[in-house]
Amino acid sequence: MIFASRLLSVGTWAAVVLQATAVPHGPSYYKNMRRQEDSCGAVSKYTENPSVDKWNQANTDAWLEQWWTVNADKRTSNPHGFAGAFGQYALGQPGWSCQNNGNDGNCDIPVCDNPKLNSLGNNTEQAYYVLQALNNLHGFFLGLDQSFDIPSVVTALTTDNIVGNFWFDENNWDPMILKQLLNVLSALVAIVAGAFAAPALALAVAGAVPGIAGAGSAVVTGGVNAAGNYLSAIDSTALTEANLGSFLGDAVTSISGSFVSINNELMYGHGYGNSGDVRNYLKGGAWVNFPGLQKNGAKDIMIAMMQSMMVNSLWRMQRVFILGGGACGDGQGIGSGISAPDDNWICDENNKAWYLYFWQRESVPAALRRKKQGWLSRPWGSDRMGQSPRLESEGGSGPFWKNLKPQDAIKSSLKSFQAAGNNYTSSSFTDRMGELFTESTKIKSDGVNMEGLWTIPVCDISKTIGADWRYGKKHDILHPYGWDELPSWCGPICDNDPDKTIEFYKAANFKDDFSMPFKKDCGYTVKESDGGYSSSLWWDWTTNKTWYRNMPYNEGN
Ligand SMILES: *[C@@H]1O[C@H](CO)[C@@H](O)[C@H](O)[C@H]1NC(C)=O
Ligand SMILES: *[C@@H]1O[C@H](CO)[C@@H](O)[C@H](O)[C@H]1NC(C)=O
Ligand SMILES: *[C@@H]1O[C@H](CO)[C@@H](O)[C@H](O)[C@H]1NC(C)=O
Repeated sequence: MIFASRLLSVGTWAAVVLQATAVPHGPSYYKNMRRQEDSCGAVSKYTENPSVDKWNQANTDAWLEQWWTVNADKRTSNPHGFAGAFGQYALGQPGWSCQNNGNDGNCDIPVCDNPKLNSLGNNTEQAYYVLQALNNLHGFFLGLDQSFDIPSVVTALTTDNIVGNFWFDENNWDPMILKQLLNVLSALVAIVAGAFAAPALALAVAGAVPGIAGAGSAVVTGGVNAAGNYLSAIDSTALTEANLGSFLGDAVTSISGSFVSINNELMYGHGYGNSGDVRNYLKGGAWVNFPGLQKNGAKDIMIAMMQSMMVNSLWRMQRVFILGGGACGDGQGIGSGISAPDDNWICDENNKAWYLYFWQRESVPAALRRKKQGWLSRPWGSDRMGQSPRLESEGGSGPFWKNLKPQDAIKSSLKSFQAAGNNYTSSSFTDRMGELFTESTKIKSDGVNMEGLWTIPVCDISKTIGADWRYGKKHDILHPYGWDELPSWCGPICDNDPDKTIEFYKAANFKDDFSMPFKKDCGYTVKESDGGYSSSLWWDWTTNKTWYRNMPYNEGN
């Protein structure tokens, strides 16, 4: 789950990752700007510059707590619940509700010269702060829809033929993987919503007000709950490759729509999910001077993140994987990887190379296959990605996804791998997002290569380079792409560790009649390119047994 303390640097993330520029957006915030010189009555002492500090100096949390208790009957008997009773108390306005019911004026706060508010004596100050905070919170929820630009996100997702271009239809379709995808996606939407709220909260955090973190966390928790409600209603067996896009579009619509329900429930005085009631959201003055939503650039990043997750889920169902860990430039005696003009590899900051592969085979009946063991190629659709897609440079026609880079798939997958091995799930994502927000310096520039967006299985072969590697065909572990490229993996290539290698093969979908296409040449003594002879020791990952040539091999022998 998301921990409050971990959300403190959501603001940094929002500001940098979302490239956000402040655009005031609260629908009625500016409408309520005070007339400066007029005498507004007693309240004018407070309306100039409401702030977190002033909220706390006036002990507003405790004041609200007491109001809540003393007015319990009024809250519960009012048709508009808490907000209805509070509007009656502070503004003398019966229709005040802050509900999203099509009436734009029902949360306005005409505080100037308001006889009721000005007559509250030393309660005027706190009553005004609470009114202002409720008004801002209401504006935030209603503005979320527009900031996400939901209609264009939905259109982008439903018309994007990602499935048609990134799916090679050889394996069985697995609706459960799509369900997982929807889980991750919904956490993302909720977290971005939290990030929208956060810059205001983050400013306040400089004043070290403990309640604020709770308020930021409430928004995210509320959003995750909303998403969960939506997802539990989805019948995963109804998910198909053809309707993935429209499911995602619907999910986004529904999740963002649920922020409106959160608003309505909170204003009634009800709790929402396990995020508590409105007092939890208001705590510490989080909303009293909220400057409005941040929206620039958010839409594009959101779309790119969702597309990344869609492609990731499609590749996860195919034999797409990342192999690497050796020094950039190869030359370490384990073969050579992909090189230019292909761009599906990176050299990381530790000078290690990582390559993105797909182990392909013909989608024709077995008897007609020309290559029984398949061959190494680029993942389906990866030649349509990047600033100058490979396919485009070869004169092929679109569509292209220039905002998605194969290198981002590698970078993000490596981060996921570091965090949770080849086990990264949607709950890892939700947990880790909370943790990541504390590491503001790390996440700063991550954007579409942030952890969790991509979870392509990774095999770190750096340990097979060492003398410990006892198995055959070491020179053939890394290969470039090509119709005739068939690497041999005769031992536990990942970390020189059977368990990790088994996990990798499973995650990378080596299964059924294609569980060991890479074992074809293992078990023979072969003359290597450097003139030496390869060991004939080989390991069968499906049984975890080692063989010498074709005889069972026991360590003691
Ligand atoms: C409000 O003012 C009254 C007297 O005018 C005083 O007795 C009371 O303590 C004040 N309450 C607060 C919360 O300051
Ligand atoms: C992956 O999950 C399995 C089962 O939950 C666990 O045994 C294994 O240690 C995990 N692997 C990694 C690398 O975290
Ligand atoms: C595979 O065998 C090794 C020893 O050779 C052992 O340490 C490991 O636990 C085994 N793993 C599985 C999944 O059986």
